[in-house]
Amino acid sequence: YRSQNQHRGNSMGINLANDDALRDLAAAMNSAGAGSWTASPLVAGTQPAGEKIAVTNPADRRETVGHWQASTSADVERALANAVAAQPGWDATPASSRAALLEHAADLLEARMPAYMAMCTKEAGKTLADGIAEVREAVDFLRYYALQAREHFAPIALPGPTGESNQLQLAGRGVFACISPWNFPLAIFLGQIAAALAAGNTVIAKPAEQTNLIGFAAVKLMHDAGIPQDVLQYLPGDGATVGAALTRDPRVAGVCFTGSTETARLINRALASREAGPIATLIAETGGQNAMIADSSSLPEQVVKDALGSAFTSAGQRCSAARVLLVQDDIADKVIGMLAGAMAELKVGDPGLPSTDVGPVIDTEAKCVLDEHAAKMQGSAKFIARATLGEGTQHGTFFAPTAWELKSIAELDREKFGPALHVVRWKADELDALIDTINATGYGLTLGIHSRIDATIDRIVARAKVGNIYVNRNQIGAVVGVQPFGGQGLSGTGPKAGGPHYLPRFATEKTVTVNT
Ligand code: NAD
Ligand code: ALA
Repeated sequence: YRSQNQHRGNSMGINLANDDALRDLAAAMNSAGAGSWTASPLVAGTQPAGEKIAVTNPADRRETVGHWQASTSADVERALANAVAAQPGWDATPASSRAALLEHAADLLEARMPAYMAMCTKEAGKTLADGIAEVREAVDFLRYYALQAREHFAPIALPGPTGESNQLQLAGRGVFACISPWNFPLAIFLGQIAAALAAGNTVIAKPAEQTNLIGFAAVKLMHDAGIPQDVLQYLPGDGATVGAALTRDPRVAGVCFTGSTETARLINRALASREAGPIATLIAETGGQNAMIADSSSLPEQVVKDALGSAFTSAGQRCSAARVLLVQDDIADKVIGMLAGAMAELKVGDPGLPSTDVGPVIDTEAKCVLDEHAAKMQGSAKFIARATLGEGTQHGTFFAPTAWELKSIAELDREKFGPALHVVRWKADELDALIDTINATGYGLTLGIHSRIDATIDRIVARAKVGNIYVNRNQIGAVVGVQPFGGQGLSGTGPKAGGPHYLPRFATEKTVTVNT
């Protein structure tokens, strides 16, 4: 699936084991200006008018890292009018020229990596390793969709009888609203935008409320790279006001959404109830209730390492994260014992320190949901282990990674978005039923399999209704162009981000037949 033209490969990161690199990175991150970051609507012809809202650091709520101003209804109206007016010109710009601008943006982003990492740490609570991964993935999306635009948007000649020529042409759909989550505030935010722009659409980007500062800096970078102001506009604000205003407007031809399943349903309803405008395209990438299955042939050490990484990296705030570890009973006691031991070693604390494994959760609301879940598990599940919170965590929104044992995955009602892992035991004759209970959650995002028996792996792969399956490794961190990412059922509509079928969904197709 790797694009034929992906000759530059994926973006390189920074080696955190190299002391010199780490020192340079720390200096660059410290000079990034935390405290003075700002965000306000980027809409040609309007001036910011909203009140200034403070943004605090999730790891230490006493620290203000910047301020943002919400979009007004006048900003929304002007942005839509600008986007409609600019779209034909952008669509007529050759795909190769659009691609070149995206590639320039990728180069700029790679060169400014420490500044964007600083924002990922201070505004989103990301660890250094996560910050590097975030910037790299954003760079990869920009380059991958640029290459895809070059491949897909050249007219395709089709066969026909003598005296007739046939051609298939792709073009932008119109105005796209890109609505994104806070957990990948740069990678998913820019990935959506890059795809929509590459395909010839103008874009109005609405970031999540929690990560407006990163979104603003990302759109500024795109403008620096040469994307015209009216072609890409930035509208920060609440989902229920700014997001909803965009999705009900008939001038919006398509919505690219990543976030919760519940919000995807609201957007779907809003688009369906519009009485004017085109039947809009909705590309929705949503939540998961992801399982990892380990059979008795698997290696307990590897299962524990990969379960730990899949459940607790990014404080479990990944849609791909493992929520349930299903272990065959023969090895369950050993795996559970080792899991508890490994959790005791986790370093939970300041995400800016290279030694930190797990940082804060995004906000007080997220922490409350997890605290409520922990209270519920206290009464109904068997406690396995809880990691220890490190020094200084009392000022931030931290939730210590915790594991419980359950009887069945069916005891979990919906996605718990944080470092909470559940373990379920199963018996050899229950494998098919086990996969059916996973399918019955309705979600279908990621699945981990640990086994050394090919027939078992094949059986699970064939029966499971999920988008991304990982065998004998962790189940997070899909790489652009290598592991196209996205789910099915309650987990999303497809097509897969970072895959070869993504870009065409942002486009209309025109067949031109000429009697020569
Ligand atoms: P969310 O659904 O609360 O918000 C996502 C975005 O939707 C935000 O920008 C928000 O402002 C906007 N929004 C909210 N209500 C809206 C409305 N009525 N109309 C229009 N827009 C509206 O999700 P979140 O908390 O930001 O992100 C976490 C969720 O995202 C988790 O469920 C996670 O699994 C999911 N996610 C999925 C993927 C994937 O690729 N499948 C990737 C990352 C995150
Ligand atoms: N693409 C992200 C991952 O695979 C969500 O972890």
